[in-house]
Amino acid sequence: MIDIRSERSEDVGGIADVVQKAFGGSDEANLVRILRDANKAVVSLVAVDNGRVVGHAMFSEVFIDPPHESFEGVGLAPLSVPAEIKARWVGSKLVREGLNRCALAGYNVAVVLGSTRYYPRFGFSRASDFGLGNEYGEVEHFMAMELIRGALARVSGTVKYQPEFQETNC
Ligand SMILES: CC(C)(COP(=O)(O)OP(=O)(O)OC[C@H]1O[C@@H](n2cnc3c(N)ncnc32)[C@H](O)[C@@H]1OP(=O)(O)O)[C@@H](O)C(=O)NCCC(=O)NCCS
Repeated sequence: MIDIRSERSEDVGGIADVVQKAFGGSDEANLVRILRDANKAVVSLVAVDNGRVVGHAMFSEVFIDPPHESFEGVGLAPLSVPAEIKARWVGSKLVREGLNRCALAGYNVAVVLGSTRYYPRFGFSRASDFGLGNEYGEVEHFMAMELIRGALARVSGTVKYQPEFQETNC
């Protein structure tokens, strides 16, 4: 039985391990550690199976340039489920629970940079259709969703992640 819950201090080693395994390098694990230490993780969830961390998702605040007072955005990154984990839907459960918690925390927009085969199932669609760009020059793979209907109706600009993303090459 997979349990999805907020990360706790005892999960830190298990999180570093699953992030490293999912991405096959240390940049994303460094990003998670640095965002956590800077108190910039809006939501950090673990998937736990029999006491073992098998997945992780982090959401941090994103900003829009030019600033817009009604934009309260979060970025989903990184999302990590190592290939060796045989349980199904671990990533999906982390994404859905994370989006719910971000909405409850008052955020009205979520963005993600990733697979167009994976993220649309959660409600994400091409961000440029909302008039949103990003710092990575990605069009196809940069996606957004409204957590509150109409939140993006009058907002456009470049979405910017926390500076820690660039500092860690993420
Ligand atoms: C992407 C990831 C989080 C998915 O987690 P998961 O628990 O394996 O996925 P789920 O069980 O929720 O969903 C399974 C579905 O997603 C699809 N899927 C899994 N990984 C995918 C990927 N990288 N790209 C596109 N589709 C993917 C599967 O084919 C399956 O599709 P189906 O429902 O049509 O059969 C995981 O594969 C992972 O950590 N990958 C490496 C790191 C990464 O790329 N993270 C995301 C960065 S944007």
